[in-house]
Amino acid sequence: MKKQQTSESAKNLEKMLAVSHYNQLALSGADPIKEVEIFDTTLRDGEQAPGIALSPEDKMRIAMALDDLGVDIMEAGFAASGETEKDIIRELARSNLDAKICSLARAVRSDIDAVIDTGAGMVHTFIATSALHMEQKLKMTPEQVKAKAVETVEYAKAHGLEVQFSCEDATRSDLNFMKDVLKSVQEAGADSVNIPDTVGVIIPRAMGYLIGELRNTLRIPISVHCHNDMGLAVANTIAAVDAGATICHVCMNGIGERAGNASLEEVAVNLFANYGIQTIDMSKIGQTSKLVERVTGFNIAGNKPIVGKNAFAHESGIHVHGVMINSLTYEPFLPKMVGVDRAIVIGKHSGAHSVQGRLDALGIKYPQEQMPELLAMIKKIAIGGKEIDDAELLAIVDNIMWKTSTGMGTVSLDELTVLTGKNTTSTAVVTVTMTGGSKRTAAETGVGPVDAAINAIRKAINDKITMEEYKLSAITGKSDSICEVTVMIRNVQNDGALSVGKAVGLDIVETSVDAMMAAINRDFAKQRNV
Ligand code: KIV
Ligand code: ZN
Repeated sequence: MKKQQTSESAKNLEKMLAVSHYNQLALSGADPIKEVEIFDTTLRDGEQAPGIALSPEDKMRIAMALDDLGVDIMEAGFAASGETEKDIIRELARSNLDAKICSLARAVRSDIDAVIDTGAGMVHTFIATSALHMEQKLKMTPEQVKAKAVETVEYAKAHGLEVQFSCEDATRSDLNFMKDVLKSVQEAGADSVNIPDTVGVIIPRAMGYLIGELRNTLRIPISVHCHNDMGLAVANTIAAVDAGATICHVCMNGIGERAGNASLEEVAVNLFANYGIQTIDMSKIGQTSKLVERVTGFNIAGNKPIVGKNAFAHESGIHVHGVMINSLTYEPFLPKMVGVDRAIVIGKHSGAHSVQGRLDALGIKYPQEQMPELLAMIKKIAIGGKEIDDAELLAIVDNIMWKTSTGMGTVSLDELTVLTGKNTTSTAVVTVTMTGGSKRTAAETGVGPVDAAINAIRKAINDKITMEEYKLSAITGKSDSICEVTVMIRNVQNDGALSVGKAVGLDIVETSVDAMMAAINRDFAKQRNV
């Protein structure tokens, strides 16, 4: 029985969308699509992706999540591939899941026997029908292939299995031959047939044509199985549904052989958003995708639709502004529809709206007149593509506020060169501009690059200054984190006065030098009794 879609009613989901009205225009007059079944093959074709090897426990965890998501059929593996595979299919078949448990089988009796042995109620059996595969791989004539297909379907049916039959490499098979084979397996009792685009070579219009032809030839349901070799797996799956296919083979996160299979989440979202067909509990897409990513170890690309980390992330000023007014300005649907979060990223494209929005969310009151300084600092730090997180944003804000409270400096650093390495004496050369505008250059060595740079600054400006304290911290604890440096210096000529300097930045040496310059300026200000 099909799982109830509980989390969000279809009506509520519709309110979360803003897709193109041209879709409805294009579809008006077409036969409405009533129901589409999701045939998930994450545990079979998905697992065939290079680099993925799932243990029985991994498969069980993914199967539970997919069942909870509401897939209709789960291809749990290839029973004939070994005893371990059989055991997990058997365990899943006994687990009383809502989804039907299916196993793949070649069109050979021993493969069907292996499926029977697992107790799974359904088999997906296949044989190639393209000339290329029949001649080169199978070394069989078309007549032999057809006979094998019919014999296998009859055998599986005689053993009480629900049977889906696939013409492997269907999209490169002769149409008349394929029709002949499919009609014959239909007569032999197949419950559905599947059309695999085995190497992802068809275009959506041609897929529509092919399914239309088969629809007019067959009375049993037609399924489709698309690979993504040319990036068309989802488009071809949707084109097939448009033309009358009612079962879609998909894999979570689009994993699968080579470039992968049609992605479960993309197909489900397209069917809902553009055709009004709800196939799964969409609010569980995010959590299921993450689980599959974790368990398979197959990382999702940042720009992957629906579940990639950038799918609902906004950085540029114009977009963030729009999203803050109405998120549908720059999103096709609300991320909560698919159970993921929106991210407003602070980075080099950020404008005042995003930064202000982030500050508001963090409860920080920041003076508007100093927004240009904050944006400039963010741009400088994020120039290499770094994203600035909340803790780092707060450190930058703190530093600007601290600089404001201590006043602007009059001594500035023009140039800094540091030479460092393993088994070398770190050496720094600095050029500074003094209060009156004169320039000074000095070189010094040190125990490391920071020490060398600070010694060079002291030599150029005032060697009576001593470093009393130096504190360095990485804000996020990651290697690309912004660092915060606080120094305390003592000027023995200025009654031993202590001055503090702080700076934030990406580079430890530069940030240390900035903190030192801030402290020196503080000391100069004290000398002027500021
Ligand atoms: O891609 C394919 O052709 C397959 C078959 C086993 C149906 O996965
Ligand atoms: Zn496949």
